[in-house]
Amino acid sequence: MIFRQLFDQVSGTYTYLLAIRRGGEAMILDPVIEKVDRYLQLIKELDLRLVKAVDTHLHADHVTGLGALRDRTHCITVMGEQSQVDVVSLRVAEGDKLTVEGLALDVLYTPGHTDDSYSFLMGDRVFTGDTLLIRGTGRTDFQNGDPRAQYDSIFGKLLRLPEETLVYPAHDYKGESVSTIGEEKRFNPRLQVKSIDEYVDLMNNLKLPNPKMMDVAVPANLHVGLHQEEVAKRGWALSAEQAIKFLGKPEIALVDLRETSEREKHGVIPGSLHAPYPDLAHNIAPGGKLRTLAENKEKRIVFYCAFGERSAMAVQAAQDAGIASACHIHGGIDAWKKADGALGR
Ligand SMILES: [Fe+2]
Repeated sequence: MIFRQLFDQVSGTYTYLLAIRRGGEAMILDPVIEKVDRYLQLIKELDLRLVKAVDTHLHADHVTGLGALRDRTHCITVMGEQSQVDVVSLRVAEGDKLTVEGLALDVLYTPGHTDDSYSFLMGDRVFTGDTLLIRGTGRTDFQNGDPRAQYDSIFGKLLRLPEETLVYPAHDYKGESVSTIGEEKRFNPRLQVKSIDEYVDLMNNLKLPNPKMMDVAVPANLHVGLHQEEVAKRGWALSAEQAIKFLGKPEIALVDLRETSEREKHGVIPGSLHAPYPDLAHNIAPGGKLRTLAENKEKRIVFYCAFGERSAMAVQAAQDAGIASACHIHGGIDAWKKADGALGR
């Protein structure tokens, strides 16, 4: 397995690059914008293909690398379902699996530091974001933080993992790189409380200054910029209402770019084809199934995904590959459902 812990000294952020093998798919957790060149260089050196870029939560102390990585690698951007961040193309929730080739991380919803904080369990190790730090916990005094929720996340979920589970946080300011659940249980000073009220009291009296970058980072991280708007300007977008009128028409091929788990959870547009986003380059290349549909069967390709971000990238790629009829459903199946579009399995 490839497991790299990368560090941004300015913000004290840990970024993790994960893959099962050289030459395979990779995912990156909590990338920092200033380090994107370095990540891409390493990804190239290790012969990896970046498929997913994930943020554990909305960061207040650095600008996320999600947008830049999306633009430069066309990867899928991932956050939790509570996220208000525009760039997110795949939203996960408690109990989901976060997957790339050969790896499946268990998704744990661990709010408290923020209301969109997640942890990810990968076998013998857990990525705790800013929920559980080494000998500390993430502050709970802004961004919808809630010490009570954090207590439940830590005591009710993270500390119930096997004691030997390795803890990899999103930050450290003292040079620590890894801990274990057992160590944190015993030696983390914030966790030596006798009740939830004692914890809440402790967290409410930390009196920390706001992060230096907060006024810049939070707005920048919320509005990274969408591909959908560009694609709409070029006339390659259908509203959900327009798309509903095309349902069942033989000249239209609706193409679902989502993962199987998303299809099972949120339903599919009846009669649509499944062609997951990571296989797109192959499917639109000469001889690929989508290209064949467009060329030989003269079908108009209408992509869709969860919220319209992956499908906007797919439209751009298909247009670049010469499939001039390609378009997508603006807002994805989320917009389709709001417009009362039919759903199947
Ligand atoms: Fe944070």
